[in-house]
Amino acid sequence: MIGRFITLEGGEGTGKSTQARRLAKALEARKLKCLVTREPGGSPGAEEIRKLLVSGEPGRWDALTETLLIFAARADHVARTIGPALVEGRYVISDRFTDSTYAYQGVGRDMPRETIRRIESVVLDDFKPDMTLVLDLPVDVGLARARARAKGAASDETRFEKFDVKFHERLRQAFTDIAKRAPDRCTVIDASGTEDEVAEAIWTQVARRFALG
Ligand SMILES: Nc1ncnc2c1ncn2[C@@H]1O[C@H](COP(=O)(O)OP(=O)(O)O)[C@@H](O)[C@H]1O
Ligand SMILES: [Mg+2]
Repeated sequence: MIGRFITLEGGEGTGKSTQARRLAKALEARKLKCLVTREPGGSPGAEEIRKLLVSGEPGRWDALTETLLIFAARADHVARTIGPALVEGRYVISDRFTDSTYAYQGVGRDMPRETIRRIESVVLDDFKPDMTLVLDLPVDVGLARARARAKGAASDETRFEKFDVKFHERLRQAFTDIAKRAPDRCTVIDASGTEDEVAEAIWTQVARRFALG
């Protein structure tokens, strides 16, 4: 028995964490076993590496070192968390995965796409999500949501807000470009509706993809 691997991608405040939980609820209501996880992190070792990535200034690591740390964390996440859950037949829902590296380190930090692709190929072979939901939202709306959430949030939830709006515009474009390059895997979701509306749009796509009632 092998499960399904679904990832949620998109910029800050687009609703990834909210919708990861909602999707798990919808699947569990149909008696399907789930695991919700996130990156960077998602396993004890990867959470240790996350601390290196999210503490200190965003420019603490040069772009290649940062990319390698992220893939080191991802290798552990896949080996220790995602892989075993898939073997148990679970729906694994990850709040971010490799597409975020192409967006943040690729477009955000000018790492060549081909370099990331080569690292991905060594680390993950051809392991890819079965389905990726790209949550798309105007940057100002996402940042306003993230800012509202920031009250009391951990600093790792707020650090990218230090970047300017242009950075977030490039990220948004990067995610929609990724979706265009992999149309069989990726579905762009309009994330501007209410939480319920976005959950409904996601459920429609997931149910169709995996032939769920
Ligand atoms: N559809 C929505 N409409 C309005 N606010 C939302 C919606 N979805 C999520 N939020 C709120 O916006 C903030 C950011 O959502 P979150 O799921 O944390 O985004 P992300 O994980 O993509 O950064 C949270 O405070 C959340 O409660
Ligand atoms: Mg989140």
